[in-house]
Amino acid sequence: MNRPRAEFATRVTSFKLNGRTVRATSAPITRLADVLRDELGLTGTKIGCNAGDCGACTVLIDGRQVCACLTPLAQVEGRSVTTVEGLARGKSLSKLQRAFHRHGAAQCGICTPGMLMAASDLLARKKKPREPEVRDALGGVLCRCTGYQKIIEAVLDAATAGREPPAPRAEEAVGARLPKIDGIPKLTGTERFGADAIPRDALWLRALRSPHHRARFRFGDLDAFLRDTPGVVRVLTAADVPSNGFGIYPHIKDQPVLAAGEARFRGEAVAALVGTREALEALEESRFPVEWQPLPAVLGLDAAMAQDAPEVQAGKRGNLLLDGTVKKGDAEAAFAQCAAVAEGLFETAFVEHAYIEPEAGWARRVGDRIEVHVTTQTPYMDRDEVAIVLGLAPEQVRIVPSACGGGFGGKLDISVQPLIALAAWLMDRPVACIYHRPESMASSTKRHPARVQVKFGCDADGRLRAAACDAKFDTGAYASWGPTVATRVPIHASGPYAVPNVYARGRAWFTHCHPSGAFRGFGVPQGAIAHEAMMDALADRVNIDRLEFRRRNALRAGDATATGQRLAHSAGLVACLDALEPHWITARRACERFNANAKRDRSPLRHGAGIGCMWYGIGNTALSNPSTLRVALSPNGTLTFYNGAVDIGQGSNTTLTQVCADALGLPMRDFELVMGDTDRTADAGKSSASRQAFVSGKAAELAGLDLRRRIFAAAGAPEGEWQDRRYRLALEKGHVLFRKDGIAHRFKPKNEIVGEGTFDPPTTPADENGQGVPYATYAFAAQVARVEVDLALGTTRVLELWAAHDVGRALNPILARGQVEGSVYMGLCEALMEEQAFRRLPPKLSHALVHRAPSMLEYKSITALDMPEMDTVLVEDPDPNCPFGAKEVGQGPLLPVMPALANAVYDAVGVRIDEVPVTPDKVLRALEKKAKGEPARIGPESFPDVPYPPATFVLPPWEDGDGDELKGADGKPLRRRAKVATA
Ligand code: FES
Ligand code: FES
Repeated sequence: MNRPRAEFATRVTSFKLNGRTVRATSAPITRLADVLRDELGLTGTKIGCNAGDCGACTVLIDGRQVCACLTPLAQVEGRSVTTVEGLARGKSLSKLQRAFHRHGAAQCGICTPGMLMAASDLLARKKKPREPEVRDALGGVLCRCTGYQKIIEAVLDAATAGREPPAPRAEEAVGARLPKIDGIPKLTGTERFGADAIPRDALWLRALRSPHHRARFRFGDLDAFLRDTPGVVRVLTAADVPSNGFGIYPHIKDQPVLAAGEARFRGEAVAALVGTREALEALEESRFPVEWQPLPAVLGLDAAMAQDAPEVQAGKRGNLLLDGTVKKGDAEAAFAQCAAVAEGLFETAFVEHAYIEPEAGWARRVGDRIEVHVTTQTPYMDRDEVAIVLGLAPEQVRIVPSACGGGFGGKLDISVQPLIALAAWLMDRPVACIYHRPESMASSTKRHPARVQVKFGCDADGRLRAAACDAKFDTGAYASWGPTVATRVPIHASGPYAVPNVYARGRAWFTHCHPSGAFRGFGVPQGAIAHEAMMDALADRVNIDRLEFRRRNALRAGDATATGQRLAHSAGLVACLDALEPHWITARRACERFNANAKRDRSPLRHGAGIGCMWYGIGNTALSNPSTLRVALSPNGTLTFYNGAVDIGQGSNTTLTQVCADALGLPMRDFELVMGDTDRTADAGKSSASRQAFVSGKAAELAGLDLRRRIFAAAGAPEGEWQDRRYRLALEKGHVLFRKDGIAHRFKPKNEIVGEGTFDPPTTPADENGQGVPYATYAFAAQVARVEVDLALGTTRVLELWAAHDVGRALNPILARGQVEGSVYMGLCEALMEEQAFRRLPPKLSHALVHRAPSMLEYKSITALDMPEMDTVLVEDPDPNCPFGAKEVGQGPLLPVMPALANAVYDAVGVRIDEVPVTPDKVLRALEKKAKGEPARIGPESFPDVPYPPATFVLPPWEDGDGDELKGADGKPLRRRAKVATA
């Protein structure tokens, strides 16, 4: 934003760019990043924040790393600038690029150019740097995908002449440690993200957003505004939107594209201006004629649940969006029999995805169709949403996904799509939009803040007997993925454990906050904090080692879950715990030794070890979620994989090709890839809920098998011959070669042969007690963390973390480890620092603040400098219903991190921080309380008098949406006085 106007462009700036002299005519104060991208066409340099906070724009000036977004063009006069495009020599990647490729250091790839340039600076000065020097050099570039591990490994390995593994032979791709098949463009700067291929003749769109949490508004004279604002050609308002509502669920289209008369959250779009980029960027927003009338806003769960709360959405009585329940056995009766009962109340915050690539894209009208090129996780859902909003048939909309620079769930909801589609449709001109960082953070969805109240009980042998959970979520102004969270959480609330009696409830309330949406784990991470604290509390009370307590109760194949689903296969928690046990024992002993010495030496440092476990149902909850993939062999022997599953960095382009290749029986190198384009690929569903490896993986397997069958049939092979895996296939000069027992047959297809695979995981809808088969398979994981807490400062430092994850089968161990590391990184960020707070601002101030906050600088996250050592164990407990046994690895590893850390802090200093993130101020306050003999706990303020663990506790009234008490199966109210917990 704030590009200098043309009248300031008064001179030519000459400098060396990647070894060649160039002359730039942009104004001398233009950001170098803009000059590189817009004037010189080198879009390898990325823009994530335009404020010097993310490092995505890092380039070298005279060999030293700088942020190109903070460098005015004038400063490079006569100097040498190197961008990512200058690293390779022709088609030969540099050693550093090759190391990145080998190690899988580029996931989504949006930070990769910045990382490469920062590392180049270091390696030019030091051929063999030590790890701390590498971390230091990369410390200014944020990566949200990798957890930095693979990047650091790659830089350390860049000095060696490491070699890529040989390309796998036919039927040997699954399980091979392969670099990404689409990895090279991410390393050379040629990958095209949402902002990278915008046509030069495009108009631009700028949304105008509410500065208030809640306000009525009225526009002034828009015609006069247009007349007086050269370069702005159209103002779009709600009146221009044919069908002004979108939303994830077919029956809940409650979010307007442009608010009509009332804005329900700060950052909601109320109008959109279309014009030249310069005019839009130069516009002072205060010139836009809109009058605001701020109204009392519902902020936070307590306000939403209050008796007299205003309705956030008209007609939504009590602001309740959804109420989901799971009931198995008789939890209340079982608690009465328990030898030990533990209870707690936990709270979590809004969390921002902070993908480095902001929302971006462009659209154009092609006859009676609209084409939208956009960064997204879900092209087919985008297609249907745009069609609804524009009043078109779905077939009239084409979504062409760009590379996606990180999503983590945040790009499952639409953002720029309906705005640019509407503008392009109405104006018959290409229209582009890139959100700036504060706009992205203000308007995009967040992780649901949660308040989770739990109660668990076990017998004297440490066998869990009962679990109760009441989870409340703030879903913001619109439904988004709130129903998913409210139904998924009760299912997972009893944790990865066999519990015979469960009562769990999940509810979501509307508030005047940004909508809460999908984020790695869909609410399950918030529940995991609670159930894992309970495992520690119960283990301590029945005097069983905390790891052993979990192992004793772990779900195993043959056990029934809280929804009554019997797990037939692949429940690998015990294997995960077994793998971690040596680390757990060593870590605990190390902590004891350290703390004894620290006390003796009067050091303020204390160490503690914590453990956390999780399970995660893969795919949609009790809903159909099919994927269809195709693979085609053309008459000239070209093999094309039409893969509608968007690779958002997790590597599905590679892993799905591995699966399809082995099922078909041809090597991966024969495959060409078409990804995501809704005109060219079938609907493979969304890249969310960790479903692509499993669901689309199975579809890829079926597609490969189907093509194999069809090729054999076309070649005249006897029925069933295609299943004989002794046939080795090869493509040679437009022919298919069949070899078996030393005899070869040759076949040339006359027409295109297409194999198709569709897979929909077998699930069943829940009954009135939430019983059923919500997911076809589950992932399991356990983690151990060792932390250091500073009693004087309240800071928590993670020293080591071990993660064991039951992936079913690792389709590609490099990529699987990368997913674990990245997911753990996000868990650490959430556990220790990340929180997007809303503030109740005086109306006078709020207008000013919406535009300066939040930023990537204010939103603290972990850098390469802070990321601890971690060790990943991939546990393979194959599920025969999954492709080659593979389950998931994208989301689950985040779940145990927060509980493991909170439990480790308790182990270190004896205080419970039940309000995530675990920040120094909370630790200090808890320590103060402990010193005064008060309950050493920081948690939800509405629950101040309950010690941890509570001696007595009254369960909250489990009223239904109408305020009536729920009745148990015996007709008695479920509200009971809980059993006195044992000491
Ligand atoms: S774009 Fe320059 S630091 Fe973020
Ligand atoms: S690979 Fe670093 S942000 Fe995605």
